[in-house]
Amino acid sequence: MDRILGIDLGTSTSEIALLKDGQPFVIPNHLGEHITPSAVGLSDAGKIIVGKEARDQLLLKPEDTVIEVKRLMGGVETVSLGGKEYQPQQISSFILSYLLDCARKYLDEDIDRAVITVPAYFSDTQRRATVEAGKMAGIKVERIINEPTAAALDYGLEHMEDCQNLLIYDLGGGTLDVTVLEMFEGILDVKASSGNNKLGGKDFDRRLMDYLLKRFHAQYGLDVSEDKRALMRLREEVEKCKIALSQHQEHHLLIPFFADVEGKPVSLEETVTREAFEGLIKDLIDATQKQIDTALADARLSAPDIDLILLVGGSTRIPYVQNFIENALGKSPQSLVDPDLAVVRGAAIQAGILNDQLYGENDLIITDVCPYTLGISVLDYVGGFPVTDAFDVLIPRNVTIPVVKEKAYGTVVDDQTEVEINVYQGEYKKASHNNFLGKFLLQDIPPAPAGQEKINVSFAYDVNGILQIEGTIVSSGERANLSIETTGVEMVEEIDTEGWDKLPNARRFKAIIRKANRMLDNGKAGYYAVEMESLISKIKVGLVQDEELETLNELKDELHDIIYEMMEETDA
Ligand SMILES: Nc1ncnc2c1ncn2[C@@H]1O[C@H](COP(=O)(O)OP(=O)(O)OP(=O)(O)O)[C@@H](O)[C@H]1O
Ligand SMILES: [Mg+2]
Repeated sequence: MDRILGIDLGTSTSEIALLKDGQPFVIPNHLGEHITPSAVGLSDAGKIIVGKEARDQLLLKPEDTVIEVKRLMGGVETVSLGGKEYQPQQISSFILSYLLDCARKYLDEDIDRAVITVPAYFSDTQRRATVEAGKMAGIKVERIINEPTAAALDYGLEHMEDCQNLLIYDLGGGTLDVTVLEMFEGILDVKASSGNNKLGGKDFDRRLMDYLLKRFHAQYGLDVSEDKRALMRLREEVEKCKIALSQHQEHHLLIPFFADVEGKPVSLEETVTREAFEGLIKDLIDATQKQIDTALADARLSAPDIDLILLVGGSTRIPYVQNFIENALGKSPQSLVDPDLAVVRGAAIQAGILNDQLYGENDLIITDVCPYTLGISVLDYVGGFPVTDAFDVLIPRNVTIPVVKEKAYGTVVDDQTEVEINVYQGEYKKASHNNFLGKFLLQDIPPAPAGQEKINVSFAYDVNGILQIEGTIVSSGERANLSIETTGVEMVEEIDTEGWDKLPNARRFKAIIRKANRMLDNGKAGYYAVEMESLISKIKVGLVQDEELETLNELKDELHDIIYEMMEETDA
């Protein structure tokens, strides 16, 4: 069978799953374990090894072992393995190949398609690198989905009938994601995501390591920060200590023969209390208030609007993290999903949706957002003076995806024959302060006075979170502008949904109407006008058959009318 699998390619651990009889099923690896360390190594025989086997040799052969490669995805830095340099996506492809191999053996069938999860806050280049890793592993990546969205799907499958606002706090080995979404009748509507790609359990380990190294230095006057082997051993013990402190108030750490002091071996021995550990990581966790605030503000919600908080990722087991979230949101987080497996289970559900394995009452829909502001650098005029390096936004952050945005720009000098389009991602007004994504040149603009020739720039951000940019010289006639008709003006009293039950998407349409009514009841008509447009566009995308589009458009018109009517009433 042409099955699609779900894969969580994590910083520390990775998992693979499929949808079986309507439920996610996590496939055990060759060792019978559901969780595989994201480690790649070279065996004594020079063979690539993955998972526990590679993780186990880290101490003995650090130069033949790679961990945490996810942190390098999409970057230019390579990793060395057995003296050979590899791109991060190649290393990731070994992990994927291993997981796929386990699945093939377990299921006894060929697998060549998968859904892979990435942190919501992964950039375009990081996503592309992930797709590439899939290709290198010989599979087609059918969809890239955001990890918190996957976790929400796992929760959503069991709570189809609920209507609530969720906040997902996902803190793993290397990344933090805070996502706010609304769930209603099987539709998971992601409102906003905010995060930090460089924060996770590894940073807590590092803090604890630095602390112990300092203590050791104070005790013995010895600096071991250059001793790779000692550091490796310390790192292992530090992670164990951190995990133990999630359960216990203190932990005794002992590393025999840690270093040589004046020719004599000395041990590193220390009792670390939970309180001391919390003091070391407190500022890192407290700083995530920023991501919570941004996600809430972008979702236009405040803390009391959140009905449920879901914790995902191994690092959310730290009691301080749980307390912090409870204080930040005034509500205690729930352990309603498995923090280790929710993401891969959600990936399997998404794979099942793509495979048409979920239908009827279990029909889940997800929408997602682009968490970044995207745009180009332009020449702007401020008070009549030209200002270079201004950032012109095409896609504001947290817009629902997929999205296509197009803007026209004029030439800035007479007889300008070419224009360079520089693409950035970020929140700064000055383009160069943002992340530079890439550039391209448009040439052969017909000579004309400044401003006469127009250049169309279009940004298309797809469901995988991958951006396509296009520029068109308008006068050379390659493209015309598309204008969207505003809706009709006829007044309708009530939405007539008779006969809708027979439509394949009846449930979805009805859910929209229910939502509309709820928002109208709450007096949020104006807000709803915007909201509804985006909702309908989400449902249209690839989910609705042609003959249904007409019904959907009628619905949109009718809802619009009702809203306008209500707004007029409010004004009067
Ligand atoms: N009980 C625990 N207490 C504290 N930290 C823990 C505990 N269990 C696991 N961790 C930490 O959680 C991290 C791994 O979490 P997880 O497997 O969710 O991350 P990941 O999916 O690999 O990373 P990411 O999602 O960031 O790519 C590690 O840093 C690990 O030390
Ligand atoms: Mg994870």
